[in-house]
Amino acid sequence: MPANFKINGRSVENLDIDPMTPLLWVIRDELNLKGTKYSCGKSLCGACSVHVDGELVRSCSFPVNLAEGSEVTTIEGLSPDEAALHPVQQAWIEENVLQCGYCQPGFMMAAAKLLERIPNPTDQEIKDSITNICRCGTQPRIIKAIKRAAQLNLSQETTPKTNIR
Ligand code: FES
Ligand code: FES
Repeated sequence: MPANFKINGRSVENLDIDPMTPLLWVIRDELNLKGTKYSCGKSLCGACSVHVDGELVRSCSFPVNLAEGSEVTTIEGLSPDEAALHPVQQAWIEENVLQCGYCQPGFMMAAAKLLERIPNPTDQEIKDSITNICRCGTQPRIIKAIKRAAQLNLSQETTPKTNIR
């Protein structure tokens, strides 16, 4: 059965794909959105995290047929405003979080969802909620960045994308 869903606001219609194909491979290989990463492939590390109808999903273990008729958001569409960064992206830059960067889109997708649920989380709430894995050891900076993103959300500060180099 062909797949039909929306991704980052764009319609995907009648995509000819095995319905059990993991959403991750549809995103990366069929739709050429490379921000969502493959790592463990077993729903353990969170590198492949996306949002499906507002829920955080590990797309390596999520068959595309479960996304039928849904709204999928990847890191490329995290900011609802094309001209500005999402507060989580801005905070990641301010706190200089990245090391190799591979795991970071997944962390940012998880962080954005956490902040919707808990607008001003404590360190412990962040540790309890975000179970993604970073092999480069950036977790302390991730905690700082999530707290900074919470401040940005509360103050509504944003940075135009054109100011980011
Ligand atoms: S690649 Fe999906 S959770 Fe690790
Ligand atoms: S920044 Fe390298 S794995 Fe997380």
